[in-house]
Amino acid sequence: MPLPKAELHLHIEGTLEPELAFALAARNGVELPYADTEELRKAYLFDDLQSFLDLYYGLMAVLRTEADFEELADAYLARAAAQGVRHAEIFFDPQAHTARGIPFATVVEGLGRALDRSEERHGVSTRLIMCFLRDQSAESAMATLEEAKPHLRRITGVGLDSAEVGHPPSKFAAVYEAAGALGLRKVAHAGEEGPAAYVREALDVLGVERIDHGLRCMEDPELVERLVRERVPLTLCPLSNVRLRAVDILEEHPLPRMMAAGLLCTVNSDDPAYFGGYVDDTFRAVHEALGIGQEGLRELARNSFEAAFLDGGPEEEALRARYLAEVAAYTFD
Ligand code: HPA
Ligand code: ZN
Repeated sequence: MPLPKAELHLHIEGTLEPELAFALAARNGVELPYADTEELRKAYLFDDLQSFLDLYYGLMAVLRTEADFEELADAYLARAAAQGVRHAEIFFDPQAHTARGIPFATVVEGLGRALDRSEERHGVSTRLIMCFLRDQSAESAMATLEEAKPHLRRITGVGLDSAEVGHPPSKFAAVYEAAGALGLRKVAHAGEEGPAAYVREALDVLGVERIDHGLRCMEDPELVERLVRERVPLTLCPLSNVRLRAVDILEEHPLPRMMAAGLLCTVNSDDPAYFGGYVDDTFRAVHEALGIGQEGLRELARNSFEAAFLDGGPEEEALRARYLAEVAAYTFD
């Protein structure tokens, strides 16, 4: 049995495996520019974030109906459960679908159908986080928040993803303020390819509670000190960082230095269908490549539940306590 953990940085569209992509393409009459799954997999050699995003958005063409989104999420949850995930906070990119003419409701209700059954079917509790595409306009983000209003019972928070450099968090100050007023939790990708200053902006201007990635905070010792002092969780994705060339090789990933500095680190899979592994694969990889031992892995698992949005009352706190007890009781084999 794998170590129990929460996954806090996972794009549901990034769980679209080539086999499912081709099955959905056939079902929906969508022509893909690849002969087969093997040829598609060969395209998974990325130079940077943008080269990945081009393929990632392109392949989404196969997702069209509520049933497609339901199947995508259910397949992820089954895989996640097998990797020890007990709680998943799942990102989705509504603008990547509404821009193709897929209604917001189709996306959120399809995903929601799978999430509704997740505890019973997979033993995984879930939350949904709606991401704004930062390379789209602030007005488009605000319109997306407006579209989300009838579906807020399904949505726990907002995030910010897509091409980072040149699209600082401050561009989205107004929409984050509006999201906060609706009671939504706030996170943002920052410091993946963008500078440490974007991490500061996400905290100071957007008021986020967690930073997604945050890798480049290490270039700013004062910022590191602040993140430690304020116990701001970082949702790191080491396999993603290697595939998108934020670090050269896994052996050079700063995770051990970040943990030693006292940062509240979590380890996540980001877009596992594209980056070579789901979350327990990632735990294994950092164990092997970075020498993070069993107690280090246990710390990462504990952090994942501490950083989860499981503070909405006594029932959620009890669930968090149960998960933390599972981590404490876990014996490595
Ligand atoms: N970074 C930014 N945007 C994304 C990512 C990522 O790693 N994955 C999916 N959208
Ligand atoms: Zn991400």
